[in-house]
Amino acid sequence: MKGNWSMFDRYDRKIDYLRVSVTDRCNLRCVYCMPEEGVVSLSHTDILSYEEILEVVNVAASLGVNKVRITGGEPLVRKGVVGLIREISKLDSIRDLSMTSNGILMEEYADQLKEAGLHRVNISLDTLDPDRYRQLTRGGDLDRVLRGISAALNAGLTPVKINCVTEQSSAEPDARSLVEFCRERGLPVRFIRRMNLATGDFGVVEGGEGGKCSQCNRLRLTANGKIKPCLFSDLEYDVRELGPEKALKMAVSWKPASGTVSLSGRFYTTGG
Ligand code: 5AD
Ligand code: SF4
Repeated sequence: MKGNWSMFDRYDRKIDYLRVSVTDRCNLRCVYCMPEEGVVSLSHTDILSYEEILEVVNVAASLGVNKVRITGGEPLVRKGVVGLIREISKLDSIRDLSMTSNGILMEEYADQLKEAGLHRVNISLDTLDPDRYRQLTRGGDLDRVLRGISAALNAGLTPVKINCVTEQSSAEPDARSLVEFCRERGLPVRFIRRMNLATGDFGVVEGGEGGKCSQCNRLRLTANGKIKPCLFSDLEYDVRELGPEKALKMAVSWKPASGTVSLSGRFYTTGG
């Protein structure tokens, strides 16, 4: 199976982008994403194996997906993720292969990721103040992220984009200083207002593509094998129950016109 195929949904949106969450685990505990403690992680048997993930990506590629993003939780905490990237990068039809990471482990992995065929990374960073960073992430070390950004740039995982979650808008002081930091280094930066999936409180991403329902080209694969047609909806199709092809096709055909609320969704299981 190789791709001259395209998938269109009911609203004539071309669906060519798959975001793959490889784990629900994270080495940080951002206040807006995870509770401080008592996070129940998915069990090992619930999590798709790399073989299963690769099969879903393969089938998606044959159906017209040409863009893949690896997410989490934090994708770099799952052992073997470099090997998954190496396999995905062999698929000719995937012309954009990226990762969203919090950057904590990026210094360690940047060269290997590049060598494995990853094209580029987005790094989540909400503040340049070490104390605020530690508070917001409940313990994260800003310096490691900054070294991670340099490592990604040196490895050529470019463009290295910065994702900044704001409380309201990019007018906040933390966001202003990130604008400056990114301007000096030539890094594209996007601002994402803090969302609440359970109340349907979400909006467009400043400087990015997210949140524009009428142009949404995405599907998501959760760490436990559900294809979600929309982050802001509880619709999901299980790849183990239905098989990847049917799960993908059903998700496309039922992709909602726009998001509403998701009571089951979590950023760390669905990957932002
Ligand atoms: N609102 C907006 N963005 C969020 N993320 C996690 N939780 C939220 C939320 N409640 C973002 C992270 C990261 C991406 C994976 O999702 O900051 O950039
Ligand atoms: Fe981890 Fe990202 Fe959630 Fe922060 S936002 S806790 S880095 S998954």
